[in-house]
Amino acid sequence: MRSWFPAGSRRCAFNTRLQWQRRLGWEPREFRRAWDALKTIEGWRYRQDLVLLYLLARDLSGPGVTLEIGSYKGLGTAALAFGARDGGHEKVHTVDPHTGDRQALETAGVERLPSQEDFHRNIAAAGIADIVVAYTMTSDELAARWMGTTIRFLFVDGWHSYDAVRSDLRNWVPLVTACGGVLVDDYANYPEVAQAVDDSGDALPPRRVRAGRMHLSSSGPLPPAVQRFLRLPWG
Ligand SMILES: C[S@@+](CC[C@H](N)C(=O)[O-])C[C@H]1O[C@@H](n2cnc3c(N)ncnc32)[C@H](O)[C@@H]1O
Repeated sequence: MRSWFPAGSRRCAFNTRLQWQRRLGWEPREFRRAWDALKTIEGWRYRQDLVLLYLLARDLSGPGVTLEIGSYKGLGTAALAFGARDGGHEKVHTVDPHTGDRQALETAGVERLPSQEDFHRNIAAAGIADIVVAYTMTSDELAARWMGTTIRFLFVDGWHSYDAVRSDLRNWVPLVTACGGVLVDDYANYPEVAQAVDDSGDALPPRRVRAGRMHLSSSGPLPPAVQRFLRLPWG
């Protein structure tokens, strides 16, 4: 019988089956449409991260905006915006001083790596400028002027230090609705981020799960499509 998989090890066949599962089973059809735009935007995201952002922005219920802390060049923003749009939800707000990602700055040995122009170009090219509200400032500065609008989905991916993550969670989690969710990126990559999340204790919603390298918390049950997605192995 002819093999479905290219010649090679069982590991190769296993990986290939996972890839098929990903394409055929896990991803909603609408995400595949969004992918055409997402794949042109530079960023540090795996496709499975983007599916999760999309599903949470689409399926978490209730009123409230989506807030992303750390916009960079708009890759996460776009996944959130396509999800919020497909779910008929309120706008996606995103904040970034556009001074640079911590790891990228440390690797390059420079003090600034601007991303603002690329961000706006990418959001316009993806056709989602009408549902994205962008702020060029730090998340603390935005918190000081925020008018109390509630948040359905909070995605924390800004400055990856202990103090910054603690401050983001302290400022923004109280605004997350009872049906909402909080996703913190790089929990598994930065010990400082993990420590800040773990030390935030009762400030975070009580149901907590790991989602690849991210940390997800919610008060209510997660939407069925998100639960299904999280059950499958993280490639
Ligand atoms: C890892 S990148 C964000 C990636 C983006 N969320 C995505 O999914 O493509 C981190 C971003 O946080 C921004 N940042 C740095 N300090 C910040 C602060 N105090 N508040 C908000 N964003 C900050 C950096 O400029 C950088 O663009």
